[in-house]
Amino acid sequence: MTMAPAGIEQRRKLTTEIPGPRSKELHDRRIHAVSAGLTVGLPVYIDRAEGAILVDVDGNQLIDLGAGIAVTSVGHAVPEVTDAIARQAARFTHTCFMVTPYEGYVEVCEALNRLTPGDHDKRSALFNSGAEAVENAVKIARLATGRQAIVVVDHAYHGRTNLTMALTAKNMPYKDRFGPFAPEVYRVATSYPFHDELSGAEAARRAIAEIETSVGAHNVAAVLIEPIQGEGGFIVPAKGFLPALSAWCTASGAQFIADEIQTGFCRTGAWFACDDEGVVPDMVTTAKGIAAGMPLAGVTGRTEVMNAVHEGGLGGTYGGNPVAAAAALAAIEVMRRDDLAARASWIGTVARRRLDALAVESPFIGEVRGRGAMIAVEFVEPGTKAPNAAAVKAVIAACAAEGVVVISCGTLGNVVRLLPNLAIAETLLDDGLAVIESAVRALDQTL
Ligand SMILES: Cc1ncc(COP(=O)(O)O)c(C=O)c1O
Repeated sequence: MTMAPAGIEQRRKLTTEIPGPRSKELHDRRIHAVSAGLTVGLPVYIDRAEGAILVDVDGNQLIDLGAGIAVTSVGHAVPEVTDAIARQAARFTHTCFMVTPYEGYVEVCEALNRLTPGDHDKRSALFNSGAEAVENAVKIARLATGRQAIVVVDHAYHGRTNLTMALTAKNMPYKDRFGPFAPEVYRVATSYPFHDELSGAEAARRAIAEIETSVGAHNVAAVLIEPIQGEGGFIVPAKGFLPALSAWCTASGAQFIADEIQTGFCRTGAWFACDDEGVVPDMVTTAKGIAAGMPLAGVTGRTEVMNAVHEGGLGGTYGGNPVAAAAALAAIEVMRRDDLAARASWIGTVARRRLDALAVESPFIGEVRGRGAMIAVEFVEPGTKAPNAAAVKAVIAACAAEGVVVISCGTLGNVVRLLPNLAIAETLLDDGLAVIESAVRALDQTL
């Protein structure tokens, strides 16, 4: 049996029903203390975690196939990371990089400049959250180009702050009645091969025609896009779509900003998803997997663009916090040392083999897609491509009852996404997939 370093056995084990009595008590307290505006996927309260196992307050051991939405990519409580956090916390927790700087911040920027696609000269800046990174990428692109229009695509998700709500596509729950939203944001069609059946070149021609007609190339500061769309449904664009958009940006003097917040840091089988088609973005936004759960985000771009900003134009109290920076450096080293990009590809191969076979068998599965350890199953009404959110709810509930945490996505809520940590033990991955298979097979009875 595989053991995680500090001793939580890497195996699923249920001692109560899910959620258990102690989780139910905490959930009741939560209802009386926490805003109802925050939903909870699974009201199981976590006591500790290691590797790919979450231990809840009732002692149940659950397999985590979500990694906190692609965050703990190296695994939970990895000693290299927790040691780095403890060491840095004991030295100092904060000075504010803009007041008195420290090495960790510089080192994370050096790593981002080295690892993000392209070997051109780059500079980076650090922030606290993905949304904050995206906001800053937009600020920088506007200033550097002297233009205002930001082009985003259907199904995009870029965050929940005011500007990023405007950039995000889906109304409910992210935007509904939270407006007015920031202006100069334009949305065009994306590439969604399962539904539009277009080649990458065709989808790019459609998007570019929309931009040129409704915005005007000379007005575009940036095209901002997730190389594989995350919250929107793990939509993998057809080959050629991203390179064509990137080339159009270069020809038009616009910045091509890749939002790699969910796809970055080995998740898709490479350091960044753009690497797959050799796309070199002008700017890259990062967060999530970068720091194994500590809040950290980055914007990396061409030196002349990043340095176009006037002194003091970027910053924030906590951005690039020393403890978060130490966690990032340790997590990045684990990814490099253990070649977690290759491990992500292996996870993708194992999962796809089983899920593709399941898709042949189940009329509820429209498509299995993804890259590396970013895997999606789109559920449909049998015999159609119409979304089936009820099937997703049923599968997720059945998995939860058996102690497997999986999450949904998709503009229409009809996609189950798997984002296991990249070091997950093979036995756990197999067990988790077996539970998903049973949940899907049971749909015939439940729906
Ligand atoms: C692609 C992408 N961009 C931006 C964000 C926003 O990041 P955060 O929640 O850290 O603000 C997310 C979060 O899910 C994301 O997936």
